[in-house]
Amino acid sequence: MSLKDAALAVRKNAHAPYSNFLVGAALRTPAGNVYVGCNVENVAYPEGTCAEAGAIAAMVAAGERELAEVYVVADSPAPVPPCGGCRQKLKEFGAGDVKVTMGTLEGVEQETTIGDLLPGAFDAGHMVRS
Ligand code: THU
Repeated sequence: MSLKDAALAVRKNAHAPYSNFLVGAALRTPAGNVYVGCNVENVAYPEGTCAEAGAIAAMVAAGERELAEVYVVADSPAPVPPCGGCRQKLKEFGAGDVKVTMGTLEGVEQETTIGDLLPGAFDAGHMVRS
């Protein structure tokens, strides 16, 4: 199954009764395995989690820690970019050149990379004083 089809399928499982904005995310690792996630909202709004966070959690729970490619899809007029927090989460597990494709249900797609989504990212090197 393609990343796009995996993201479209998991999007249908999103729990988004507050925003009514269902999001699906699928990622592939260098080993070729695919992990998926959807947004899971909560009545205590800040406790909700994004689709990307769910897919990353599934990957890590399965014992993998590296992203090769990411696809995010939502029912939006234009492709929806990952939120700030998810950009940092993607950066944790993906190199700057990892492709991130954002898609709409109509099939409009926009491609970017983790590096372009989070320029100037905080990383472990910023905690080291030499
Ligand atoms: N959302 C995601 O899951 N991923 C994104 O990239 C953008 C936003 C979710 C969070 C919330 O459940 C809903 O979309 C509206 O913000």
